[in-house]
Amino acid sequence: MLSYQHAYHAGNLADVHKHALLASALDYLTRKDKPLSYLETHAGRGLYALDAAEAVKTGEAAAGIARIEGLGWFAPDHPYMRALATVRAKHGPQAYPGSPLVAMALLRDIDTIQLCELHPQEFTALRQAVGRKITVHKADGREMALALTPPTPRRGLMLIDPSFEEKADYVAMPKLIGQVAKKWNVGIIALWYPVLASGAQEGMVAALRGAFPEALSHEVRFPPAREGHGMIGSGMFVVNPPFGLAGEAERLSARFAAL
Ligand SMILES: C[S@@+](CC[C@H](N)C(=O)[O-])C[C@H]1O[C@@H](n2cnc3c(N)ncnc32)[C@H](O)[C@@H]1O
Repeated sequence: MLSYQHAYHAGNLADVHKHALLASALDYLTRKDKPLSYLETHAGRGLYALDAAEAVKTGEAAAGIARIEGLGWFAPDHPYMRALATVRAKHGPQAYPGSPLVAMALLRDIDTIQLCELHPQEFTALRQAVGRKITVHKADGREMALALTPPTPRRGLMLIDPSFEEKADYVAMPKLIGQVAKKWNVGIIALWYPVLASGAQEGMVAALRGAFPEALSHEVRFPPAREGHGMIGSGMFVVNPPFGLAGEAERLSARFAAL
């Protein structure tokens, strides 16, 4: 059963971490003239409104992107801020880009984007948000990760961003990423995961670090969104990280540590 809806969490501190790293990675990749493939297994609805009832109810965006912009963490020419500006110019000042729209704002006509989203309502909203030029699959992201790799062009990035509603996701990810990396050895594979007070992610992260000792494994901590809320941080595990991404991760570590 799919009950997770990212609208309650869009623009929270975990999104700031994930989207800043994603935008930086795509920025580094687009510095070369060569085309690239962008793939997403769990895309969400693509476009969010930070004044929507869901976002207001949790207050996560207020404690997230709104606070971070107030603190001036990112220069206006940072790729994450450029993506935000592009989306606000088109959809209004309260608009917030999900990862598909971050990618669309930064990628070029020569690049290819393929997105997967299984939830019927999220899928319909995603199609509307990205328009007809982008391929959107209403399909299981784990199956599609294998079906879509290796992509053409081979150079590129896959974001895997499950909702981790089921414990099985933690068990499945190391195996899935191992299979994808075998099929697509040059691909940049980025997995987002929550850092939980319960430590439920720790076995998965240990397995990934063991299998990919050269990967970028980056975690930040932040205060929970509500008292007793289980998420106390955000993690990104990146196989074949592009040049420059480790530096961006270090800058983010310093920012989050000072929160
Ligand atoms: C964390 S949200 C994605 C957020 C998005 N990547 C972003 O950063 O803007 C996870 C999404 O995965 C979808 N989902 C859950 N299980 C899925 C599956 N097996 N295949 C594809 N999508 C799935 C959910 O409906 C939800 O929209």
